[in-house]
Amino acid sequence: MEAPLVDPFARAISYLRVSVTDRCDFRCVYCMAEHMTFLPKADLLTLEELDRLCSAFVRMGVRKLRVTGGEPLVRRGILTFFQAMARHLDAGRLEELTLTTNGSQLARFAADLAACGVRRVNVSLDTLDAAKFAAITRWGRLQQVMEGIAAAQAAGLRVKINTVALKGVNEDELFTLADWCAREGHDLTFIEVMPMGDLGNEDRLDQYWPLSDLRARLAERYTLLDLAERTGGPARYVRVVETGQKIGFITPLTHNFCESCNRVRLTCTGELYMCLGQEDMADLRAPLRASAGDGVVEQAIRAAIARKPKGHDFDYSRRHVAGRMSRHMSHTGG
Ligand code: GTP
Ligand code: 5AD
Ligand code: SF4
Repeated sequence: MEAPLVDPFARAISYLRVSVTDRCDFRCVYCMAEHMTFLPKADLLTLEELDRLCSAFVRMGVRKLRVTGGEPLVRRGILTFFQAMARHLDAGRLEELTLTTNGSQLARFAADLAACGVRRVNVSLDTLDAAKFAAITRWGRLQQVMEGIAAAQAAGLRVKINTVALKGVNEDELFTLADWCAREGHDLTFIEVMPMGDLGNEDRLDQYWPLSDLRARLAERYTLLDLAERTGGPARYVRVVETGQKIGFITPLTHNFCESCNRVRLTCTGELYMCLGQEDMADLRAPLRASAGDGVVEQAIRAAIARKPKGHDFDYSRRHVAGRMSRHMSHTGG
């Protein structure tokens, strides 16, 4: 076991998010342009290279690995990668192996994922209305996602629903969504829309629904108890007394959680982003391909962590968007 990864602000890096593809079978309006140019397949790390890199992080103290995309389950052969990571779970080096998915392929994969030691999945779902779902995702079928969620439950996976709060889009479904999750036993996390991707002239301010407002509306009907639990992640949680359910809020714009950040992000081309809201990244593909041994890669990882910034620059507060990112969320995997 190598010395653990600690950044210049004394934050230990124990959580790696790895985006295994930039492709997706949906085109959510806040995430992708309708016509996307995806990366040439030759630029992608192979599954073996992803394994090598992730294993290096595990040796250096990463305990939680979240597979993201794009849509991770559209990457060909992805189960092989989960099987490779399962050996770290089995050996006790990794505490959690999980994924964030749009749910479209879950019906096919849920049982195999469970067999690899996956215990929970985060499923992105912004609406329970089929027409709205098709509009947000540009062509997705809600029914397919519902079947995926059901398959995940049947395979014994815990499901957390991620809902991007969109003003004028899903505001009217706040209670429908919360009550559905409570009935089904899903945790629920709301996310403030972030200014990522090809925004053109748009800055998404018109869709920005601050979670402070969403929370206040929930509190009109329900008693919300703040939970002290901080996972090192960005969410703050409440317990709804009436239903017992847990609701999370991810508020990069109204509340900065960077001081306890424990994570870095690896893209499918081997770029390591030290922060979701910063452009700085380190190329790990070159050192990976330059040497068959892992020393060079480990050195490159340490050098990158030494550059992790104090925090992100997203800011809607002055009625214009500072810190907007040209990078698509699908590139870094959220
Ligand atoms: P758990 O707490 O383990 O359930 O995971 P999570 O909520 O961190 O993971 P998930 O993939 O569900 O993340 C949901 C969304 O939160 C991401 O897609 C991002 O939009 C946002 N998010 C996660 N981590 C960060 C972060 O470090 N900074 C910012 N600004 N947003 C983040
Ligand atoms: N702002 C906030 N969340 C976003 N996601 C994708 N793009 C954005 C954005 N611009 C969310 C998805 C999914 C997660 C991976 O990232 O809805 O839940
Ligand atoms: Fe695909 Fe997720 Fe982006 Fe939607 S938010 S286009 S499902 S990667």
